[in-house]
Amino acid sequence: MRPTDLLKVEHDDVRGLLKVLQAVIVRLVEGRRVDLEDLEWIFEFNRDYVDRFHRGREEYILYPALKDEGVPECPLSELLAEHEITRSLAKAIRGHIEDYKQQDASSKIPPEIIEGSLSYTDLLLDHMDTEEKIFFPLADECFTKEAQERMAEKFHIFELERIGLGRKEELRELIDHLKNFY
Ligand SMILES: [Fe+2]
Ligand SMILES: [Fe+2]
Repeated sequence: MRPTDLLKVEHDDVRGLLKVLQAVIVRLVEGRRVDLEDLEWIFEFNRDYVDRFHRGREEYILYPALKDEGVPECPLSELLAEHEITRSLAKAIRGHIEDYKQQDASSKIPPEIIEGSLSYTDLLLDHMDTEEKIFFPLADECFTKEAQERMAEKFHIFELERIGLGRKEELRELIDHLKNFY
């Protein structure tokens, strides 16, 4: 598998996560009961899988390699800025969920959780589309087969160091469980 194919598989996992998030938000808007632990867990998956793991592979390995191949700094720093925006947004939503948990069960869901989650979903879907339409094809073109093999190896080491052996599969299983539920 090319390194960009591995990243595309991860994008599909993220799209699965966003579908669950959207389903949870619809339930909340309709005033139906949602287990807050599920919502918390969605953002835990987000932190470990999307942020630490997937974005880490891009930020520490793919983007610098593209820069070395002569891709201008500007579009790459835009991608990094998008990572930062969504990272801060997810952190803020996690904080609102934490605050909401302290309130009594009858209190209304804060709009920051609803609106923040919807913005988060839109931003992330756009970002992944841009990567898949522009930057991944560029990477496939720029890197030789040997360079791609080296990158796939770096991806593997990064995964072990960043989230540990088996954590990715554990996160995937949990998201599949939520997909079936919501
Ligand atoms: Fe990205
Ligand atoms: Fe990505």
